[in-house]
Amino acid sequence: MARRKVTVVGSGFVGSTSAQRIFEAGLADVCLIDIVEGKPQGIALDLMQAAPVLGVEGKIVGTNNPKDTYGSDLVLMTAGLPRKPGMDRSDLLEVNGKIIRDVADYVRAGSPNAIVIVVTNPLDTMVYLMQKLTKFAPQRVVGMAGVLDSARMRCFLGMELNVGVSDIDAMVLGGHGDSMVPLPRFSTVNGISIEQLIPKERIEAINNRTRNGGAEIVNLLKTGSAYYAPSASSFAMVKSILNDEKRLLPSAALLNGQYGLDGIYVGVPCTLGAKGVENIVELKLDAPERDLLHKSAGAIRKDIEILKQKGLLTD
Ligand code: NAI
Ligand code: 2OP
Repeated sequence: MARRKVTVVGSGFVGSTSAQRIFEAGLADVCLIDIVEGKPQGIALDLMQAAPVLGVEGKIVGTNNPKDTYGSDLVLMTAGLPRKPGMDRSDLLEVNGKIIRDVADYVRAGSPNAIVIVVTNPLDTMVYLMQKLTKFAPQRVVGMAGVLDSARMRCFLGMELNVGVSDIDAMVLGGHGDSMVPLPRFSTVNGISIEQLIPKERIEAINNRTRNGGAEIVNLLKTGSAYYAPSASSFAMVKSILNDEKRLLPSAALLNGQYGLDGIYVGVPCTLGAKGVENIVELKLDAPERDLLHKSAGAIRKDIEILKQKGLLTD
């Protein structure tokens, strides 16, 4: 079987660590592209030199030339500015929207059959823009955020209960912003609802820490945002798609009536396989959960309107 080709766009913190995970797992050959001359080439060469030590077979190339990305099976879009302390993810709309526009052009031209995973913030709007500009079937354009947000919640639940994180499942839906929707009712420790194990006010504190999980790290790092957990989350999605694992992972998908929402990307549980988003699972939310999800969708719609006002989106 021919080796798969994954292009990672952006060789910053999220891009380089994602490329490392994909390359070192032997999942695919990797093309790492950035606009900064030398940066992706240097990272790729460094990773190629790690390969003999790790026993990794495969290829990773760094480039500034979009043509080198052509023929990709999957494109992981991480290019774009990260937040600085005090910034909202939406503050990145215009600058990162222009980067999505440039990248969508060559992905559409050179990798017409690729599945695209968008990581760039503000996530739900950038993945929407990528789908509109590439005109790829919505099934083939998906956003990474829910895996990360749920992983943060799992981590905080593990700390609270002093329980191994592999036994913990958590579900966070909605937009990747302050209005994301952690769902304690769908979060468990080896099948036991966390509502049986943790007092209500502590669950609320964990929900809030999850919502602020990105900002907490931005404030600690001071320059840039999180990348280890984001790259681990991106890797899980890439692997599920390339290996057709059909994992059920919260991901930003274009809704078409599910959850009473239409025509926007929102984080919902999705099956990810060789065709991309193969199924969207509709949980039976109670009224408060549904209200929170709709409020989160409202915030995403506002960002889409801003994109239109800025002329980055026409319809
Ligand atoms: P970074 O600043 O370390 O890297 C960004 C890279 O993109 C830089 O190397 C830059 O030169 C490159 N770049 C800019 N324009 C480009 C273009 N047109 N083509 C190719 N490369 C280009 O930032 P970091 O930490 O890697 O974050 C990247 C993005 O991912 C940010 O927007 C950040 O907010 C977002 N993010 C999203 C997460 C999510 O859960 N969806 C989690 C973590 C980060
Ligand atoms: C995060 O949640 C900044 O969106 C990024 O870490």
